[in-house]
Amino acid sequence: MIITIDGPAGSGKSTMARLLALKLSASFLDTGAMYRAVTLAAMQAGIDLSDQDKLLGVIQTNKFEFSVIDDKMSIRINGLDVTEQLRSPQVTANSRYIASAPKAREKLVQMQRQFATTRQKIVTEGRDQGTVAFPDADIKFYLTADPAARALRRQAELRAKGDDQTLEQIQKAIEERDKSDRNRTVGPLKPADDAVIIDTTDLSIDGVVEKLLSCVKEKCLKEN
Ligand code: C5P
Repeated sequence: MIITIDGPAGSGKSTMARLLALKLSASFLDTGAMYRAVTLAAMQAGIDLSDQDKLLGVIQTNKFEFSVIDDKMSIRINGLDVTEQLRSPQVTANSRYIASAPKAREKLVQMQRQFATTRQKIVTEGRDQGTVAFPDADIKFYLTADPAARALRRQAELRAKGDDQTLEQIQKAIEERDKSDRNRTVGPLKPADDAVIIDTTDLSIDGVVEKLLSCVKEKCLKEN
């Protein structure tokens, strides 16, 4: 069983994918972490981020490991745990380079499919999971929320880590990322035609999980 959750930054995808996977005893995959990990490795190697072939080389020459520890995605590059570094504002901003590099995307999509083939049930989240990576997924969700609500959520996350960016700065960065995610030619951010769209602006975490679970149950009932 493959469940995809796509949506813009701060729409609640990661939290929901993790919680839904927990409820369904499924594996979960945070594909944004893959884009971030390659970005970090490229930054550390000092390569030109706008050079597609060099980015592909970074994927091919480094060992990336993605695992789930204590319900959290943990990422290692060449054996080193880089999970915390992946959320830095620099990595976040620079991830747009690899996100718009077709060859690198193709390779990451292959890795995502490989991850899914070795699991019985998976909840995978990103921007293109229902449209490109898993067009035949059993259930597809697309989460959305107002940019202001998304900025507030991101601010709470950043504050917990001691980062004091203003709400305006955060919202501006989110809107820039939305624009770049929606307008690229490969794997752009958009709902799949058969996705269930959920606006999370006024919903609590539990409220969204309930909605997702009831869609999954409904779908399972229809099939049996
Ligand atoms: O979801 P997260 O914010 O961690 O993703 C980081 C960046 O990776 C996004 O802004 C997006 O550009 C890119 N991404 C993508 N396709 C995915 C997941 C993430 O292009 N499936």
